[in-house]
Amino acid sequence: MSGARSRKRTILVTGGAGFIGSTIVRQYLVQTDVTIVNIDKLTYAGNIDSLGSLRNHPRHQFHKVDIGDRTEVDRVLAEHRPDAIMNLAAESHVDRSIEGHGAFIETNIVGTYSLLESVRSYWNDLDPGSRKHFRFHHVSTDEVFGDLGHEGRPANETTPYAPSSPYSSTKASSDHLVRAWARTYGLPVVITNCSNNYGPYQFPEKLIPLMILNAMEGRPLPVYGRGENVRDWLYVEDHADALRLVLAQGETGRTYNIGGRSEKTNLEVVQAVCELLDRLAPDPNGRHDRLIQYVKDRPGHDLRYAIDDSRIRRELGWQPCETFASGLERTVRWYLDNTTWVERVRTGAYREWIESNYGHRGPAE
Ligand code: NAD
Ligand code: DAU
Repeated sequence: MSGARSRKRTILVTGGAGFIGSTIVRQYLVQTDVTIVNIDKLTYAGNIDSLGSLRNHPRHQFHKVDIGDRTEVDRVLAEHRPDAIMNLAAESHVDRSIEGHGAFIETNIVGTYSLLESVRSYWNDLDPGSRKHFRFHHVSTDEVFGDLGHEGRPANETTPYAPSSPYSSTKASSDHLVRAWARTYGLPVVITNCSNNYGPYQFPEKLIPLMILNAMEGRPLPVYGRGENVRDWLYVEDHADALRLVLAQGETGRTYNIGGRSEKTNLEVVQAVCELLDRLAPDPNGRHDRLIQYVKDRPGHDLRYAIDDSRIRRELGWQPCETFASGLERTVRWYLDNTTWVERVRTGAYREWIESNYGHRGPAE
């Protein structure tokens, strides 16, 4: 057995202070004996508090590093000698990508390119045994497949890319770079494309936590357009389970789509949040859905995403544990119980974003 196989595994996670990344890190630390090296730039969306006391776990090493900083990434790789890398670091919010796309180009495209070059150099210098077992796992999104319309078939792994937003086009670019580095340089990669995640620790600029917090505080619930756009929803712990399974057992060079088989209109999602709050935290002023306001739509807003996840279910035996109803109840309860975390992330910068995205939006046409 090679040196790499006989010692305990070390996995480098990028973006491990974000929503999905922190969930992955918590799962690895609590459920396995893997050592985690966590690199994160700590942008507005990164919050090391999301790891709680696990931040100081003996098998967790945190470095505040930008994936695009070649020198620092090279240094971390040389210091920790990971057996695998899971890349979650990204700018992830579509509305922000519409208002300012520079950071999306920098991190999602240029940053991924720089990371790939660091990893290629590191991988080339590994001993043959370690090289053979090394993996670079790139975490991507169903938004790369673009708008499926109401009648389109759910996207599978061979559906052509047709991204619509600055965000999704940068994610598509990064997927292309990763595939090119695999084919041209032989880098052993796996890619996953997942649908909309929700759950604890999600930054409250995204639909579900924004609606929970606004409703809890009696503020308007801003639904874009008529609320008819459809997304497929997956509880974040189920996504994290799927990512760990793909990294451990997926076939090198293969892509796996991950989804919840839970397509909902945005209005259905907001109504479900309101009904849960009516039960768990009743408002003396009336039902929470009285707060729904239809506001001017997101430019270029994709009508529908949907994922055909039969490959990961068939080949790796994955399936989600939570239904949308059970996952949403867990999520709403978490936000009701974790107001300290919420207050820490709602800094001045967060308030400025809310003002700039919603302040002048006006009603839907
Ligand atoms: P997030 O915005 O909550 O977290 C992103 C993390 O990356 C943050 O901690 C941030 O500080 C860090 N980061 C940003 N730029 C960086 C850089 N240059 N260097 C190092 N760290 C940097 O995002 P998320 O929702 O957890 O998404 C994680 C990944 O999963 C992203 O790649 C996203 O595209 C993908 N994804 C998200 C969803 C979803 O519904 N949230 C679905 C499918 C795929
Ligand atoms: O599909 C996977 C993607 O899901 C991930 O790749 C992205 O990182 C993640 O942010 C998410 O993108 P969306 O644009 O689908 O998520 P968001 O929560 O921003 O919006 C979900 C839907 O709700 C979308 O149709 C827009 C709508 N919306 C959103 C907000 C913030 C509203 O109607 N009102 C709002 O205030």
